[in-house]
Amino acid sequence: MTFNKYFVIDFDSTFTKVEAFDVLAEIIVKEHPNSENIKKKIFEITNLGMEGKISLRESIEKRLDILQPEKRHLVPLIKQLKLVVSESFKRNKEFFSTYADNIYIISNGFREFIEPVVTEFGIKPENILANEFIFDELEKVIGFDLNNPLSANNGKVEQLKRLNLNGDVYVIGDGYTDYEIKHAGLANKFFAFTENIERESVLSKADHITPSLDEFLYLNKLNTTISYPKNRINVLLLENVHPVALELMKAEGFNVETYPAGLDEDELCEKIKNISVLGIRSKTQVTAKVLESANRLMVIGAFCIGTNQIDLKAATKKGVAVFNAPFSNTRSVVELAIAEMILLMRGIIDKSTKMHEGKWDKSAKGSFEIRGKKLGIIGYGNIGAQLSVIAENLGMKIFYYDKEEKLALGNATKCKSLKDLLALADVITLHVDGKESNANLIGAAEFNAMKKGVIFLNLSRGHVVDVKALRESILNGTVAGCSVDVFPYEPISNDEEFMSELRGLPNTILTPHIGGSTSEAQENIGNFVPGKMMDYINTGSTSNSVNFPNLTLPILENAHRLIHIHNNVPGILAKINHILADNGVNIVGQYLKTNEQIGYVITDINKEYNKEMIKEMRAIENTIKFRVLY
Ligand code: NAI
Repeated sequence: MTFNKYFVIDFDSTFTKVEAFDVLAEIIVKEHPNSENIKKKIFEITNLGMEGKISLRESIEKRLDILQPEKRHLVPLIKQLKLVVSESFKRNKEFFSTYADNIYIISNGFREFIEPVVTEFGIKPENILANEFIFDELEKVIGFDLNNPLSANNGKVEQLKRLNLNGDVYVIGDGYTDYEIKHAGLANKFFAFTENIERESVLSKADHITPSLDEFLYLNKLNTTISYPKNRINVLLLENVHPVALELMKAEGFNVETYPAGLDEDELCEKIKNISVLGIRSKTQVTAKVLESANRLMVIGAFCIGTNQIDLKAATKKGVAVFNAPFSNTRSVVELAIAEMILLMRGIIDKSTKMHEGKWDKSAKGSFEIRGKKLGIIGYGNIGAQLSVIAENLGMKIFYYDKEEKLALGNATKCKSLKDLLALADVITLHVDGKESNANLIGAAEFNAMKKGVIFLNLSRGHVVDVKALRESILNGTVAGCSVDVFPYEPISNDEEFMSELRGLPNTILTPHIGGSTSEAQENIGNFVPGKMMDYINTGSTSNSVNFPNLTLPILENAHRLIHIHNNVPGILAKINHILADNGVNIVGQYLKTNEQIGYVITDINKEYNKEMIKEMRAIENTIKFRVLY
């Protein structure tokens, strides 16, 4: 049976993200001394053409007249166009070769730059319908083929008539001339392509608005690479996460909505209903109640380190994977800790304050180098360990205490107990995690066990230190200087007054929880978290997930991937394999990992499978979520 559907695709702003003529103009005017003037003129002519005040032919003629292109200009043009092919076209490259006989590119642009770009996708040169330049012997453009209908108004319609396609014709494009094909009765449907540009006049005429080629393929059941169009996956990014996250998720084709602030529980319960991917920072509370409403939610990205704001148990129970950015701001915290140690050892804060009051107090009393001093690190995780390396490079002697077995980096010495560390360190810095059991880890007894004149830093979590005891220790001279970035209670907004027993104490640096707040860290987080979420959506990989069993999976080729999340009860893997065997399906690879709550099974199977089988999989008792990739 022959396939009698034809796909007519526009080039400018559809196949590529840009208008090729604009790019050509940019390349040529660069060589001109008064380039701004030329660009302005080109812009005016383009507009006159769009407004219908001059004909298409006149508009091309006038623009060529000003630009005077030569063959050599086409080389950088083609190079640039190849770099700006629309993302969803790149993603679905297979579609073009699979349906090569049925795909036409129709454009009022020129074959000389269209053909090298689209044939790389398997599109046939004979199926490209576009204008053609005429060159002189010096390879300068001296005109274009006037017999080609595409150089005149209504050209696309005329071309389609000549093609006389025998079957259903679907047109995909961003411009009015694309719609005109349908209007003339030569196409069954017009799909307005909005990935690069949205034109109101075109949207209202469309049979379907397709934000990406994925959507077009899905609507027409032509998917070759992805199972569900990404533009149908709604992403909500709250709390002003770094713009790079928005760019990454948009480039992947998701339908992304951003919101500068957090949302309260009720607002989020309402909003989350249609959301598949949620991005938050530390303010948004994802409670069990929120998760109950989250029926489409697949994944949460915490654009920070902590995940206390998410009810992880409830998320896991619901089959929602959670990712965070465990090391994206590690370096920022470490740099601040180093700076603060030096400032405190030199009494800089008080000296600076006096200077502002007009007091010149030049003295070396109570000022020390950090070189050679003993640094005691409590909590030798990501931050503690990196601080160890950098402080050692500054000449400090490193001692650490961690309740887990940790590899000592460089020349660091492990302390057997917290007490040992407290007794020997000149500088003590806290980098434990903020779990409840660490509340008041450092209280009166611990301060009393420290050397007199110790420097103390807390950049971990506020409740880890008994603040009253810290105040006492500063006042009685046990602690000669301290730096605190985190507090048991922290103001909700910048408008709220900061209240603390630590205000006004000598040689005390207080900072508003900004240890990890640098542009670099925000950008790192903005890159890292979307990467993890997209990996999970695209491959099922859960590496670094905070609540799912961690599995790193290979990219799949020529197979389907079945992802089964279930309550961790015995026998589920056997049931899955039983169903596969009953259906005579060949397993290409299988991966299973469990944690206390759930089991995560990935099964790669060869291409053919029965849709009924998928239903059986979903029906296995204790299934939480099931999805098929590719
Ligand atoms: P991590 O989880 O990599 O390391 C924590 C380490 O502390 C682990 O090795 C753990 O075994 C150890 N630990 C936990 N409880 C302990 C205890 N009672 N005694 C001894 N060791 C204990 O965490 P990471 O990334 O190094 O972060 C450390 C802390 O810094 C966290 O509390 C985090 O929330 C905080 N943080 C603060 C920032 C700020 O802006 N001030 C920014 C980033 C992190």
